[in-house]
Amino acid sequence: MPRSILARVRWLGAGRQALVALLVSIAILPNLSAAAAPAQSVAGDDLRAAFATPQDIADGKHVALASCASCHALSGIALARGTPHIAGQRPAYLYAELRVYQAGRRGDSPMNNAVKFLSDDALVKVAAYYASLDPAPPAAASARKASKADPVSAGKDAAQGCSGCHGDTGISETPGMPNLVGLDAKYLAGAIGAYKSGQRKHGMMKTLVSALSDAEINSITLFYALQKPGKAKTPAAGNKAAGKTAATACAGCHGQGGVSTGTAPSLAGQDAQYFAGAMQAYKTGARTEAAMKAPAASLDDTAIKDLAAYFADQAPQPPRVKKPMTTEEVADRCNRCHGVDGNSTDPRTPAIAAQRADYLEPVLRAYRKGDRKSTVMNAMLDGMSDDEISEISAYYSRQKARTVVYVPVPTKP
Ligand code: HEC
Ligand code: HEC
Ligand code: HEC
Ligand code: HEC
Repeated sequence: MPRSILARVRWLGAGRQALVALLVSIAILPNLSAAAAPAQSVAGDDLRAAFATPQDIADGKHVALASCASCHALSGIALARGTPHIAGQRPAYLYAELRVYQAGRRGDSPMNNAVKFLSDDALVKVAAYYASLDPAPPAAASARKASKADPVSAGKDAAQGCSGCHGDTGISETPGMPNLVGLDAKYLAGAIGAYKSGQRKHGMMKTLVSALSDAEINSITLFYALQKPGKAKTPAAGNKAAGKTAATACAGCHGQGGVSTGTAPSLAGQDAQYFAGAMQAYKTGARTEAAMKAPAASLDDTAIKDLAAYFADQAPQPPRVKKPMTTEEVADRCNRCHGVDGNSTDPRTPAIAAQRADYLEPVLRAYRKGDRKSTVMNAMLDGMSDDEISEISAYYSRQKARTVVYVPVPTKP
């Protein structure tokens, strides 16, 4: 008996409009144009759910009622946090994932028990049933931080209150105010954290940064780390040549010419007055840092002044920092496989449009950690930050989900 293709079309009935799963019985003819079919698609075991008959779907509904509806609802539109919508999901993907749960290869979840005792036939049918349903509506756009889509401009906004002292782009024009460019984002975040906690004692900076959230601190430090570095535009009175000689003792940690490649901060281009103040603070113990205790202790005021003049004159370099992509840029990469706005057209690749964000987020983190295994997805998530994961999850939850008409796949002649 020829298998039929599960296809979905909008059917305009008398006065009512309904999306129905229409099963077009198309014999898979060997002489169908091979060029019209996706090159890699060959009707195989994994595509069985895409070739369901109307009877399969009706049987699948019984399975759903008995085994799935308590969590996914009979509509496939889940109501509980962390439970995915499965209505309108691509059939071959659904079937493949059910088998993954059955084999216990997707961690420990309520799904393992739900499918444990189901036959392969029941899995094919229940997958076809849920695939044939209308997908969930998109999530409403939350007013929450629309500007977060571009983390760098968010950092610029949050740093507005800092520019009066530290300069518009982190290049100081006021003696005593440190340059914030040319410094590693991690060092800057650590310094801000130390002011906040009081570990680095400075009443004014504590007040200034106390209201910043971790996310704001991250975007501010990213903003400064991505600015073009330049020397502080402030005077430096000491003897640069004498400073250069003394600076050989600092290069091991602070790098050649004060451009650090390790965890110690870069010193190149730093404001001389701030520099001297920091050295005094290490000397008196007002600023505690084991690594700086000995280098500072042996230096008198003249030596500090000379070192400050030398380092102020060195050219700062951009720290190594990856410019994060905007959410749209990330989505462009995902859509290559998941389809326009996350509406996959391959029955084996999941659609992600209108999926619950509270399901997508943990799934993406599981791919990143390697807990959920998929060669492509593990690679895609490599290096993605928590923020990027929340943003892209919220983004897809707001996209409109669309159904797909599957085209017949010819068998090899
Ligand atoms: C006790 C509640 C519960 C029952 C019953 C249940 N599910 Fe699930 N289902 C979940 C939860 C929770 C998840 C998310 C688990 C995860 O993150 O791996 C899930 C995940 C899934 C997924 C993965 C979705 C995706 O996009 O990767 C599919 C497919 C699925 N369920 C289908 C079914 C089917 C079919 C049945 C009935 C045979 C069923 N579930 C029964 C709770 C349930
Ligand atoms: C009123 C002037 C002023 C403002 C406004 C200000 N700062 Fe500062 N900032 C200073 C001074 C002065 C220091 C040096 C404090 C010290 O000696 O520890 C400093 C130090 C710092 C440092 C440490 C630099 C290093 O090399 O260790 C960081 C980081 C910093 N500020 C970030 C910020 C951020 C972010 C903002 C805005 C939220 C801000 N500052 C606003 C005056 C200011
Ligand atoms: C053993 C490694 C080490 C050596 C050697 C060393 N430093 Fe440091 N230095 C550090 C570390 C780590 C910090 C960051 C400490 C902190 O966060 O307070 C630092 C901080 C500083 C700062 C403060 C920078 C800022 O932006 O606030 C100055 C100034 C400084 N060092 C100057 C020197 C000079 C000058 C020498 C050589 C005479 C020197 N250091 C030698 C490790 C070192
Ligand atoms: C090269 C193709 C490809 C690219 C690019 C890709 N994906 Fe995937 N994605 C897949 C495949 C295949 C699966 C099914 C993997 C599995 O079975 O675990 C998948 C699974 C997923 C899932 C799980 C869906 C579910 O319902 O459980 C999510 C979420 C997802 N991808 C999101 C993304 C995001 C976000 C991006 C971009 C950062 C992305 N994908 C990029 C191919 C891709």
